[in-house]
Amino acid sequence: GYGTAGLVTGLAGGCAFPAIHTSRDRLRFDPAAFTERNRQITTGSGQHSVVYRFYRAIPYVANPVDARYQSLNISVPISIDGQPINAGDAPILLANGVGGYMPSSVIDAMDVGGPADPGGPTGMGVPPPRAAPMGHRVNKPEYALAAGMVVVEPGVRGRTLVDDKGRYYGTAPAAIVDLKAAVRYLRHNAGIIPGDVGRIISTGTSAGGALSALLGASGDSHLYDPYLQTIGAADASDAIHAVGAWCPITDLEHADMAYEWNWGELTPASDKGLDRGLSDQLKAMFADYQRALGLSAGDGMPLTAETYDRHLIHEYLIPAATRYLAALPEDKRQAYLAQHPLIGWSNGTARFEWADYLRHVGSRKKSAPAFDALDLSTGENNLFGNNTVKAQHFTPFGAAESGAGALSPDIAEKTRLMNPMHFLASANAGRARRWWLRVGTKDTDTALTVVGNLAARTRQLGDAVDTAMYWDAGHGADEDPDAFVRWAIG
Ligand code: DHB
Repeated sequence: GYGTAGLVTGLAGGCAFPAIHTSRDRLRFDPAAFTERNRQITTGSGQHSVVYRFYRAIPYVANPVDARYQSLNISVPISIDGQPINAGDAPILLANGVGGYMPSSVIDAMDVGGPADPGGPTGMGVPPPRAAPMGHRVNKPEYALAAGMVVVEPGVRGRTLVDDKGRYYGTAPAAIVDLKAAVRYLRHNAGIIPGDVGRIISTGTSAGGALSALLGASGDSHLYDPYLQTIGAADASDAIHAVGAWCPITDLEHADMAYEWNWGELTPASDKGLDRGLSDQLKAMFADYQRALGLSAGDGMPLTAETYDRHLIHEYLIPAATRYLAALPEDKRQAYLAQHPLIGWSNGTARFEWADYLRHVGSRKKSAPAFDALDLSTGENNLFGNNTVKAQHFTPFGAAESGAGALSPDIAEKTRLMNPMHFLASANAGRARRWWLRVGTKDTDTALTVVGNLAARTRQLGDAVDTAMYWDAGHGADEDPDAFVRWAIG
């Protein structure tokens, strides 16, 4: 194997067998290693018959910690509805299937014939769902492929991975390091893998949306270099062109405050009890955080805890409800309005105040603190664990309130590497310049200010931002996949 090749090369001194040097590029893509597949894909423009080359489970780093995760699939369209197409210069959709900051493997997804969890990953290796998928989760890779894009689906390590010595190897920042390595692999093989590496568009939902935004925000940052070197990532740029992020669960070290500002008046549906004192303290802390960001709404209004409800109402919630209600036939609209008396309608516009909206949402999903739980029970506590510690606090508030005291010394670096807001605040030059941001208005997995702040910051930087909310939609919604693909290609 590689060991022998290395030995021979060493002895030959690079003279006798020059070809062996090429074979030592373990990250070189083999264009011949595909199987041809076809599938029927239904998009907004109807059903399409797509023939594509499928490259399965290619390791994208030279020293994988676990190749079950550090591998990617590539799908290259060959013909659509019988028309041959050349995807050599097509934009590339980099679609991560991460949920819950869990490990995501494109190998497992195929071997079991699709994920057991219908809210889990969807992709080209996964057979089309037999029943309608849960919620509005759509198969973005299918939409992109049917539009002629090259689709890359990277596996990535996640927080729960543990080796036989009991050491955790998928906690932060493993997932973002792996995504960057996947981008570097694509650039390393530019011109060999079909597609335009100048137009890589990343997508993801929830934790995957957070990672997508982080990938775009942190492009070419040197902070990740030591991690990338350790796993043998290609020496290439990891900057990407555009970000699609649906309900990103990000800005984690400020998410508890934002959650109480947004949903503090609501109670969890499954009431495990909610400490109102904690909620009020966190809500008060949000005001300082939000002011310090120095953001403003489109009309120049400073975006603070005092103005943010107005901003959400005018910029997002009223337009979302208006789009939703305007699209309904008159009788359905009247039925909706009768059933939801807090939501008004006049002159073709939805009408309601912030307090009405909150009552309309009804309940919150999470307790307080929502993310840095005092008992270390959340996925995020596990995300910020380390090799030997399964779960840690990652906010000063959580550490203090739980009695743990100070934060672990590794937390500052981990939160720095996991939060796109830091890279955007410093106007990272390698960031993506195009942003597609979406969240449902009944999604209480995190605060709506998370998408609001990502949009406000990228706008402030002068980037192209397309942002909207889906009325009454819950966690994981994607209600305009055709529009997204048009945006991605355009
Ligand atoms: C996801 C959802 C959450 O509520 C969360 O805290 C982290 C991740 C998810 O669906 O990926």
